[in-house]
Amino acid sequence: MILDVQDIHGFYGKSHILQGVTLQFAEGETVTLLGRNGAGKSTTLKAIAGVVAPQRGTVTFNGAKLGGLPSHKIASRGVCFVPEHRGIFRLLTVEENLRLGARKDSPWQLDDIYRIFPRLKERRTNGGAQLSGGEQQMLAIGRALMNHPRLLMLDEPVEGLAPVIVEEIVAQLKLIRQAGVAILLVEQNLEVCTQLADRHYIIEQGVIVYSGDNASFAADESIKDRYLGVGVV
Ligand SMILES: Nc1ncnc2c1ncn2[C@@H]1O[C@H](COP(=O)(O)OP(=O)(O)O)[C@@H](O)[C@H]1O
Ligand SMILES: [Mg+2]
Repeated sequence: MILDVQDIHGFYGKSHILQGVTLQFAEGETVTLLGRNGAGKSTTLKAIAGVVAPQRGTVTFNGAKLGGLPSHKIASRGVCFVPEHRGIFRLLTVEENLRLGARKDSPWQLDDIYRIFPRLKERRTNGGAQLSGGEQQMLAIGRALMNHPRLLMLDEPVEGLAPVIVEEIVAQLKLIRQAGVAILLVEQNLEVCTQLADRHYIIEQGVIVYSGDNASFAADESIKDRYLGVGVV
């Protein structure tokens, strides 16, 4: 087991958002976290990454408890988080953004990122602010890879992107997965989810209400209707 999240509770001020989230996954697994808007998906990723501190419960990564560690310490253990708004530094160039996350022991160095996403090489001296949404997402993923992820957490990585860019990013996520990196994916596009994932969790009002493997999830329309609602695809 690479990640074991047990009964975490998370608050924003007095709002009790995560009400006991429990999830686990094995080395190299790709797992999605699905649910309606406001269900607590982003907050769960933030709690694992240490961006918001869980008030109760435990997060164990690779055998060690992460509770109370600052987010940069959690990242240096290999839990790499690509947040929804990608965290690109607008005034730094593409290459400067990539070097921020760089670790010498990562299997992905600058040239590897430029091979995976040739567009970033073309844009390497451009500022973050000049990139399209798709390029920003590639940059955010590239930066996470240079940080040597053992668990890559992505929050809606293809939201709002053109289909051709979605395909390019999904193809790269498949290769990252093949390289043995565990992936925790929050994504509204169910087709993308079922293409990539081994298993799925659904969260509702801060509690996990469903867990199933990809084949049973893909086959069961009633689950999607009940928990995700029509029009989520
Ligand atoms: N920074 C914040 N301050 C206060 N409430 C927040 C904040 N971020 C999210 N929330 C609330 O927490 C709940 C869960 O949000 P979030 O985890 O972003 O949901 P999801 O990612 O599933 O759409 C929502 O009700 C949202 O309004
Ligand atoms: Mg969200």
